[in-house]
Amino acid sequence: MAPGLLTIFQFGICLFFMSSIAVGDEAAHGGAGGAPAACRNDFPLLKVNRWVNGAEKEPLVGLSAGFGSILPEDIKQAQRLPAMFSKPLNCCSPSSFKLSGSIALALRGECDFTTKAKIAQEGGAAALVVINTQEGLTEMGCSNDTALNISIPVITISESGGEELNKSMADGMKVELLLYSPTRPIVDYSVVFLWLMSIGSIVTASLWSEITESKQRDGSSNELSPKVP
Ligand SMILES: *[C@@H]1O[C@H](CO)[C@@H](O)[C@H](O)[C@H]1NC(C)=O
Ligand SMILES: *[C@@H]1O[C@H](CO)[C@@H](O)[C@H](O)[C@H]1NC(C)=O
Ligand SMILES: *[C@@H]1O[C@H](CO)[C@@H](O)[C@H](O)[C@H]1NC(C)=O
Repeated sequence: MAPGLLTIFQFGICLFFMSSIAVGDEAAHGGAGGAPAACRNDFPLLKVNRWVNGAEKEPLVGLSAGFGSILPEDIKQAQRLPAMFSKPLNCCSPSSFKLSGSIALALRGECDFTTKAKIAQEGGAAALVVINTQEGLTEMGCSNDTALNISIPVITISESGGEELNKSMADGMKVELLLYSPTRPIVDYSVVFLWLMSIGSIVTASLWSEITESKQRDGSSNELSPKVP
């Protein structure tokens, strides 16, 4: 690849990273201020710590919805709350179980994600966990509901994660969850790496122009010399 193209490519990646960081910040401020965070189309991976009868178990992985409030990055700011299945399980109509003070669990399907979130929120749930109907995590987007006003966090977990929770709860044990959004070190490293790459390519580009210019001055320029924009 020509150095010019490489620079443009890296610049693009940097812009992409910078814009995604900016979006994250904006959304985080919106959530912290209690303002309704509308659909922000950002789907960070989350950690779902869990306890069964007070004993900590392997955490599950979740994915945040494109709407709802932002989970804290710091585990110390996250709340450990009891989990409870909504009834009906799809959370498409108000739950006959009281959801207040709990993290509501609902099965995916039969109505929009935003409908489930509205119903869980109105039922007093502190958060909503949508259990996927298949393995893996799905990106839960918004319908074009401009009046969307979800102020609780909404996340999804895989089908097997839901089954594990159900198994514990079916045995009459108390399941508690704690949801948070840790900043993974790998992201920081890749930003540093990209920054180094872009610095490197600026240096390379100026070296190239030095070389080609001196070649031109020497009169030894040829068709194969790389062109720097
Ligand atoms: C947006 O909402 C309107 C009415 O609520 C509906 O008619 C339309 O199909 C929706 N558009 C999309 C892209 O969902
Ligand atoms: C959004 O919901 C909050 C309570 O959850 C309420 O105070 C606020 O007025 C609502 N905003 C809109 C635009 O409906
Ligand atoms: C939980 O497990 C029981 C027993 O296997 C099953 O009947 C029930 O449908 C499950 N509930 C959910 C929400 O997966």
